[in-house]
Formats: sequence, C-alpha cells, structure tokens
Amino acid sequence: MINFSNIRAWKFKELFKNSHHSFKRSYVFKHVPSPLITHAYKSISKWKNYKLTPLLSLDKLSKNLRLNNIFYKDESKRFHLKSFKALGGAYAVDRIAEGKKNIVISSATAGNHGRSVAWGAKRLNLKCKIFVSQYVSQTRVREIEKFGAEVIRVKGNYENSLEECKRLSKKNNWQIVQDVSTKNYKYIPQLTMAGYSIMIKEISKQTNHYITHIFVQAGVGGLAAGVVAGVAKYFKRIPKIIVVEPERADCVLQSVKANKLKKIRIKKESIMGGMSCNEMSLVPWQILKKTSNYCVSVADSNVAKTIAMLKDRKLSKGSIIGGECATPGIIALIGLTNNLKAKKSLNLSENSNILVIGCEGNADVKLYKQLLSKGRK
Ligand SMILES: Cc1ncc(COP(=O)(O)O)c(C=O)c1O
Repeated sequence: MINFSNIRAWKFKELFKNSHHSFKRSYVFKHVPSPLITHAYKSISKWKNYKLTPLLSLDKLSKNLRLNNIFYKDESKRFHLKSFKALGGAYAVDRIAEGKKNIVISSATAGNHGRSVAWGAKRLNLKCKIFVSQYVSQTRVREIEKFGAEVIRVKGNYENSLEECKRLSKKNNWQIVQDVSTKNYKYIPQLTMAGYSIMIKEISKQTNHYITHIFVQAGVGGLAAGVVAGVAKYFKRIPKIIVVEPERADCVLQSVKANKLKKIRIKKESIMGGMSCNEMSLVPWQILKKTSNYCVSVADSNVAKTIAMLKDRKLSKGSIIGGECATPGIIALIGLTNNLKAKKSLNLSENSNILVIGCEGNADVKLYKQLLSKGRK
C-alpha cells in the first residue's frame, strides 16, 4: 500500500552541482538555432490531430511537499505515440523529405525514436527501414511495424545496428534520420531537439506562473537539451534546470562532473529503458554542460510505486498514465525535498513552481501493466 508517510523515506542517489553553469540564450541558439525552433512549432502545430498535451497539477504532492505548484506535462497524449518522441523523429522526417515523395527514410533505434521516425514516414507516405539490434523486444518491433516500416534485425548491439543502417543507407541512397549527434552529424539531431522544444512553447501558453525549477530526465540528453532550447526561446525567466538519470546510466552527471564527455559502462540496464544510455549525444552535451544547474541520479526501486501513485490519484485529483520514463523527475523531487541540505541548495520552498516532464504514457503496454501491479503491492 502506498501512502504519503512512505515517500518520506525516498532518497536520491547522487546530486551534483554544475560549477560551470552559465545560462545564455545566445549560447543555446548557437547549438539549436532559433529559426529551427520557430519553424518546428509552426510546422508541427499544423499537423493533423495536433493539440496541446495537458499541463496537469500534482496538487496533492505539492501540498504534501509544501511546494507552491508541481506541474506535470502529460506527453501520454502526444499524437499516436504516447510519448514526446513523436515531436522529434517525425519532425526531422518532415524537414528532410521537403515534400519529396520518392525518398526512403532509414534509422537505427532501441525503440522509441524508431517509432517516431516510422510514424513520420507514414504521415508522408514514405518508405521506411528501421534497424534494430538483437536486444530490442518483439513488442517494440511490432509497434514500429504498425506504422508500415520494414524492421531489419541486426546481430549485436545498438552500435552494430547503426553501422548496418549506415552501410545499407549509403549503398541504396536512403536518408538516415538519427537523433544522436556526433561531430559530423548535427543538423538532424538539432531538428529533433527543435521538435521537443514545442512542449515549452505550449507550457508558456498554459500557465501564468513563472516556473522556478525544471526536472528533466535524460538518456543521451536530447530531451533535456530540447527543453532548454524551448526555455531559451519562450520563457521570460530562466528556471533551474535539474537533469535526472537512472543511477546505472548517469552519463550526463558523470560528464558534467568531469567537465568533458564521458562514456560510462552500464553494468545492469535500468527499468527506465529509454534512459539507459552510456554516452551523451554531442549537441546536448554542449548545451547541458552550461545550462544544467544540477544533475541528480535515482534508483529504479521507486519507479513502480510512482507509476501506481500517478494512476491511483495519490499525487493529483485525476488519474495519470505515466510510463517508467515519466517517473524519475517525481522520484528525484521527493528525494531532494526529504534531504534538508539538498532542499536548501536547490532553493525548493513554498514559492517554488516545479515542472516535471511526464514524457511517456503506457508506450510499452505489457511493461506498464507489470509495473502498475508491482507498484500497487
Ligand atoms: C520515453 C523516453 N523518455 C526519455 C528518453 C530520454 O531522451 P534522450 O535520450 O533524448 O535524453 C527517451 C529516449 O529514448 C525515451 O524514450
């Protein structure tokens, strides 16, 4: 059984304050150009079935933690994909295609990005080839195939699937749409981040409160950098940016700590699969090394409980469907408010208006059901 006295014992794993923090809008726009951000909103807001995803209030939790507001951006309602990812890959496909009808889109994926790319290709009636490693589940493969893409399984890990994607794409003249940026591959990942930034544009219309803290989760950092790009563009006041990661995949925290890109070794995959990444994408690194105030890591142990609390109206008046990756911001916030030193350092008080990103709903239905029933025990 879950009640509020239980959450008093919740802890975060590690908290790191970024001593290189210096938020400059012009610096952010150097890495995600402002015109791309403007274009993303203009374009996506015209797509069929576009509507703002809800900005919910976790009012029961904010009352309990004595914070002014906790806003929850509910991306479970984002198009057909039940995840913010719908804004990234699909928008990049849109820009790359530029109305052409005879191109073939390709991508390598661990799951969610590939779904977005496949959906984006389907929107435009384009052929699509998605490469997955032997470790990607059949459920995820079926979700991609639902959008008409051909899924190609590659022996080995994600890197092997990316290599094969590059090889065949070069040979066949397919257009690769990846969300991870490297030294010579920045434009398409920038498009995905510009796509994500529209969450912040929507929030700027959905509340008059100044957000004081944003808790944003990270895998390779694209979501967090997209949120920062949106803040630079649309928010009058710059909130504290707190990047949250699974303790076993804390590549942003380790990179910020070392002040250089760090590749980490994942000993055991986190249940928050979309965030179980061992190395940051380059453009997000350039952005987050300057704009993140804090990095915090959390254990997997409270993920199922948080899913159940969201669903069973423990945190808010209404029921919320949040998948495993939607939980870490809430877990980190509870852990940090339980620790007086951390709470003070982050200036979390009755004046705070917190934003957490509910980045996905039950995107993996089977896993969601398992975690929900585990969390209710
Ligand atoms: C549902 C979900 N949340 C969060 C993330 C993390 O996003 P990023 O890798 O851009 O940091 C991912 C990445 O796949 C995801 O699928």
